Amino acid sequence: MTVPIRAQQRAADLRAQLNQHNYHYYVLDDPIISDAEYDRLLRELQELESEYIELVTADSPTQRVGAEPLLSFEEVKHNVPMLSLSNAFEENEVITFDRRIRERVDVDVVEYVAEPKVDGLAISLLYERGVLVRGATRGDGMTGEDVTQNVKTIRSIPLRLLGKQYPRLIEVRGEVFMTHKGFLALNKRQSSAGLKQFVNPRNAAAGSLRQLDPRLTAQRPLQMFCYALGEVDDGDMPESQYALLQQLRGWGLAVSPLVELVEGVEQCLAYYHGMVEKRQSLTYPIDGIVYKVNDLSLQQSLGFVSRAPRWALAHKFPAQEETTLVKAIEVQVGRTGAITPVARLEPVFVGGVTVSNATLHNRAEIERLDLRVGDTVVVRRAGDVIPEVVKVIGKRRPRAAKGFQFPTRCPVCHSEIVYEGGEGIIARCSGGLYCSAQRKEHLKHFASRKAMDIDGLGDKIIDQLVETGMVQDIADLYSLTVAQLAGLDRLAEKSAQNLVAALERSKQTTLHRFLFALGISQVGETTARQLTDHYGSLESIMNATENDLQSVTDIGPIVATNIYTFFRQSHNKQVIRKLRRRGVMWPETGIIKKDVSKLPLSGKTIVLTGILSAMPRNEAKARLQDLGAKVAGSVSSKTDYVIVGAEPGSKAIKAAQLGVEVLDETQFLKLLSKLGPR
Ligand code: IVH
Repeated sequence: MTVPIRAQQRAADLRAQLNQHNYHYYVLDDPIISDAEYDRLLRELQELESEYIELVTADSPTQRVGAEPLLSFEEVKHNVPMLSLSNAFEENEVITFDRRIRERVDVDVVEYVAEPKVDGLAISLLYERGVLVRGATRGDGMTGEDVTQNVKTIRSIPLRLLGKQYPRLIEVRGEVFMTHKGFLALNKRQSSAGLKQFVNPRNAAAGSLRQLDPRLTAQRPLQMFCYALGEVDDGDMPESQYALLQQLRGWGLAVSPLVELVEGVEQCLAYYHGMVEKRQSLTYPIDGIVYKVNDLSLQQSLGFVSRAPRWALAHKFPAQEETTLVKAIEVQVGRTGAITPVARLEPVFVGGVTVSNATLHNRAEIERLDLRVGDTVVVRRAGDVIPEVVKVIGKRRPRAAKGFQFPTRCPVCHSEIVYEGGEGIIARCSGGLYCSAQRKEHLKHFASRKAMDIDGLGDKIIDQLVETGMVQDIADLYSLTVAQLAGLDRLAEKSAQNLVAALERSKQTTLHRFLFALGISQVGETTARQLTDHYGSLESIMNATENDLQSVTDIGPIVATNIYTFFRQSHNKQVIRKLRRRGVMWPETGIIKKDVSKLPLSGKTIVLTGILSAMPRNEAKARLQDLGAKVAGSVSSKTDYVIVGAEPGSKAIKAAQLGVEVLDETQFLKLLSKLGPR
């Protein structure tokens, strides 16, 4: 069916009007029509588009209602990594930050942009020829999740950039967040629908964006403030952070209205104090201030240290503290048997959530605090860290306050507790998988979302499976039947069927998920991924020597030993065989294990420092690793070469002191071209 010209024109006109109103509402915070009028325009467009389906475009404002649910999120590789920020808690640290910058770039007064640090989650938006084509979470900074359909439901995110002067490809980054009011309303709705409560606005924003069903995301009150760029292709960019923010606004992207240009550290601190005051009256949560060097070319010459820029700093607001009563002290047994004492508290609202437990870390910490049951204590919760007991208020100790005897045997399996770590500080249950607490935690980890992702296998069910002896090890999960499961408490026939189906689905996995799921000590998601990328098959990982394992990015001697030892234990090998027999499988990536010992730089440890002009640090690192080298973060007597770029730091000095061979960039590039093509 051909669409009449009139309908085409009207649709285009409505779209332009709606986009303009969005801009007034979200970016300028100054709406020029009522909500009802907006809704009328939107409805008219919806009707036109449903009459003439050809009229629907990807950037139409009607596309915000939410697409069909997904089964899982695709991965997104960030071409420009999404880094984090160094934190400062004290003014002194801000002063040092500013002094270091002035010394490095040799200027008297540095101009900064001070921005509120909104407490939400970092999101990347990719625009191609002005149209939003992808939204992604930060993930681990290198790889995130594709949440395009969800991002599209957020009204303050333009589906098409305003104006015409934008680069062909531009990635904008910012924070998606929820207002306090939106958060309370959401929790109220959740509670009347019998659904789970979110602990704070950040958690609610993250949960809402990581919904597989975009129609649910569409109902969540999310907003976004933009503050940075990622990838940019083909376009002129402003010369300062401040100008960039103005530019983003010009394109219709929302930027915090509280951003200010300040000069020198005194003005940074004045801005900070002003915001501490203002914070209570803001409608959304902020957890600090971010200072950024304004001049983008200065930013570039300052560069990065490890995973954070030298030109920016997050100045966090003071941790929030409250006083409450310690009702009991108990110990918890973790997945690897670590025994952690916890204080059970009279519930108290602190740092935006209700806290009823606080970690006491270890035995020494209880002694340091001189903590007793019945004490009144100060608890602190900063950002998303676990609540802690800061101190005991001695004056309020009742006579009957009782000291705590650290157990000598595991409270769950009664095996002996052994002590390890520097000063015998870590207490560990020696029961291994004989200990039902460890078994439960192991199973919970195995089933968790980032591991085997077994939907519906919650903590309560795992507790029962272990307690009834139905499941001894992770492989036993795969022989559970509907009849067996339906016999458990609070598990109806239908849920049992769903769980068996979820178990079946989880069998098709990926090697890195499987490796992570095994729960090898200190092998997190990133390490699992790196092992997979390096070896390509489980066989090769299982056969690798400790030395060989250390050539994998970021794997040091301790983790290498953990992996090596894990695969030498017969019960682990047996469980893996059992899992495979029961149908757990993954596509091998087909990478043939490189014989690392034959690579030209194998056995060499190399350190990179300073700014390289020919390639980013990451690429230099990857190329050296491809040649078999281990790229280390600091210089020691074991370092073979230090590669020094422009404006090197203390590593170059250390290299000279230790007599380590130093290569400049030209020598480094020569070495690369001599040793092999990319
Ligand atoms: S800049 C390389 N600016 O804080 C610079 N981050 O602790 C990267 N955040 O992951 C970030 N408000 O999620 C920047 N105005 C702001 C921010 C901000 C909140 C978050 C962001 C980032 C985290 C780092």
